[in-house]
Amino acid sequence: MAPEHRLKRSLGWPHLIALGVGAIVGTGILTLIGVGADKAGPSVILSFAIAGLICACAALAYAEMATMIPASGSAYTYSYVVIGELVAWIVGWSLILEYSLVVSAVAVGWSGYAAGFLADTSWALPAQLANGPELGGVVNLPAIFIIALVAGLLIYGTRESATLNAILVVVKVIALIVFVAVTLPYFDGANFEPFMPNGFGKTVAPDGIERGVMAAAAIIFFAFYGFDAIATAAEEAKNPSRDLAIGIVGSMVACVLIYMAVAATAIGALAYTRFANSPEPLALILRELGQNGAAKYLAASAVIALPTVILAFFYGQSRIFFVMARDRLLPPGLARVSSRGTPVRITIFTAIIVGVIAGIFPLDEIAALANAGTLAAFVAVSACMLIMRRRAPDAERKFRTPLPWVVGTFAILGCLYLFISLPSKTQLYFLIWNAGGIVLYLLYGARKSLAGAKI
Ligand code: ALA
Repeated sequence: MAPEHRLKRSLGWPHLIALGVGAIVGTGILTLIGVGADKAGPSVILSFAIAGLICACAALAYAEMATMIPASGSAYTYSYVVIGELVAWIVGWSLILEYSLVVSAVAVGWSGYAAGFLADTSWALPAQLANGPELGGVVNLPAIFIIALVAGLLIYGTRESATLNAILVVVKVIALIVFVAVTLPYFDGANFEPFMPNGFGKTVAPDGIERGVMAAAAIIFFAFYGFDAIATAAEEAKNPSRDLAIGIVGSMVACVLIYMAVAATAIGALAYTRFANSPEPLALILRELGQNGAAKYLAASAVIALPTVILAFFYGQSRIFFVMARDRLLPPGLARVSSRGTPVRITIFTAIIVGVIAGIFPLDEIAALANAGTLAAFVAVSACMLIMRRRAPDAERKFRTPLPWVVGTFAILGCLYLFISLPSKTQLYFLIWNAGGIVLYLLYGARKSLAGAKI
């Protein structure tokens, strides 16, 4: 591999677990628990368990594939190696949707908290500059600002960014532990009745909104992923065969435990109808319980630490572009690495795209569409794991998924079930995105790619 296309190995497993938790704990648990409660009522706890279980199975497949093929590009690279270029392109295209929309969505979510903080100071922003056009503004400046800041960090150097990320992850996790500790004494089993007011499968409620435990799970799914961002760091891991599995499985297990505790105490502490659909449900619960200090602490932690999610997905996004450009599916000039060992051009290119999305588009539906892209990638990785088990059963595997056929099949079917539980509009947008991707592939990628050049 040409030196200008090689990344620097600077990350150990603690960095990778921190990168994983940093990418997982974010807007999902801090805000989507309110949307989930609206859709499922107290049984949103079941939605958490279902989404978490499906994600955990996919995470095991990821860990096996990441240690077998420790190259940047994660699901895209596994599909490229195991299945072929066209499927890899579709997966890469879905990953672009996932990563860019998560960066944009979390930047917009951060901007909401940041604008709230600035409102009490002489730095208060006029509403036109704090919201995109659909919310009556012109452009969301704070969202663009945070994206530019994170892009700067990534250009400065991977390891420096990963260390700062580890510190911010601790801030975020402590805030959630404080939430659980403060709300636990208020736990009342009566708040779990009626447990499943909107049924299990996705159904359209009279107000036109799709509800039910699975409809909530399809959205709550957003809260669980992020561990896959670790796999995109494979070429920068010091000891990828061991550390990637520790990073992926470790961060996933930690987050499932934290989320179940947060969801159970949130529902137990307050009737779900009082925080359903709130833009800041956890802070609201604390305020309703008279715990204003804890509410402020939680909100401040969100402002300080939400950028870790942006950082991890941004990092993953620029690596996906990097690897696709290296395979000549995108213009190769984009894949050049600077003397600091980071892909500067691709980072700036990514920043411009996600900045435009965050500056203009509203938060709602962005998360659902990001989920659609992620589900496609998870199906592909689980399929790759099963294909490799069949094709090369004796190949060396540093990490082996337990009960691979059960876990892999469950992950694939579970992801498909989540996909059909997403809002119908989201499914349509996802199909349009991929149709556009295939056209682009036929016009550019298929003719310029390394695989295409060999034919
Ligand atoms: N899991 C990430 C979050 O909740 C995407 O923000």
